[in-house]
Amino acid sequence: MELKEKIEKFKIEIQAFTVTNSEELEGFRIKYLGSKNSIKELYAELKTVPNELKKEFGQLINGLKNQTEEKFNTLKETIQSSGSDSKKESIDLTRPAEETTLGSRHPLAVVKNEIIEIFKRIGFVVSEGPEIEDDWHNFSALNFPPEHPARDMQDTFFIEASEDGDRSKEIALRTHTSSVQVRVMENSKPPIRTISPGRVFRNEAISARAHCFFHQVEGLYIDTDVSFADLKQTLLYFAQEMFGEKADIRLRPSYFPFTEPSAEVDVSCTICNKKGCNVCKYTGWLEILGCGMVDPNVLEAANIDSKKYSGFAFGMGVERIAQLKYRVGDLRLYSENDIRFLDQFKSAH
Ligand code: DAH
Repeated sequence: MELKEKIEKFKIEIQAFTVTNSEELEGFRIKYLGSKNSIKELYAELKTVPNELKKEFGQLINGLKNQTEEKFNTLKETIQSSGSDSKKESIDLTRPAEETTLGSRHPLAVVKNEIIEIFKRIGFVVSEGPEIEDDWHNFSALNFPPEHPARDMQDTFFIEASEDGDRSKEIALRTHTSSVQVRVMENSKPPIRTISPGRVFRNEAISARAHCFFHQVEGLYIDTDVSFADLKQTLLYFAQEMFGEKADIRLRPSYFPFTEPSAEVDVSCTICNKKGCNVCKYTGWLEILGCGMVDPNVLEAANIDSKKYSGFAFGMGVERIAQLKYRVGDLRLYSENDIRFLDQFKSAH
């Protein structure tokens, strides 16, 4: 074949070349532009051309080479812009959309909200107070005398200690939400019906059963003629709303400085219904809260006439109620933010 014909043949071949992916493009490059490409053979053949035609033929081959390079660039661009490169992931518009996953409420928030809802239905309103508290609201106004041993019942985190033994200068992280009842009594007049949810702090070593912070809901009811029977009925209502109609309660005499008389309240075991099982340690009962009639000293400290008014108070641990509801006994799980734990409460609200 004459050299001229060969050049023509290449020209047509290259013009007609199409590629659909990057492998084919690479094939084109190797064949026409690689180190052993077939255009090189044409340059070799140039030697056989008579001298006077060398220039013309040389230009033809150079033109072919340029055309090949241009073709390569256009092919490359088409592949990149069409996304038809097999290595690139193509978009499948028929694929169903990915599910958007919703977060879940924290189990303690779920339980706290449920407690609030139950008491709202019988006229209690929510009130809150500060986590950093002075001695007056956390202890003294609640009838804890300065050296009362009951202060030791609650291992306090002090922020400002007093050097001269003057308790009134002390500032601490509140050890219970009972501090909020003092603030409510100071700032409002009876009748008072309030519940105070919040975080409390105690200087305890962290374990499955104890933590340096946890949550409580405090309740306070003050009016004329409030009796212990009102307290008991309120707590029975709460237990049945929270744990079901069959729930029963029992009160055991106890001691708190701010209530007189005081009691600890057990709810019938939610698992075995009083028959006895390992959750209730075969007693049939589970302790859920402390309560009592507000001590007249506490009313007087907040300038409420204890001759005219009486009231009851109670305090419960949110983690404790959550433990009974969800069977999560290890307190540490509530504050570790482990997604595998939190994910399990998706259906709770
Ligand atoms: N403040 C108590 C505590 O943290 C709980 C408590 C007991 C609150 C009896 C009350 C009450 O209002 O009457 O252990």
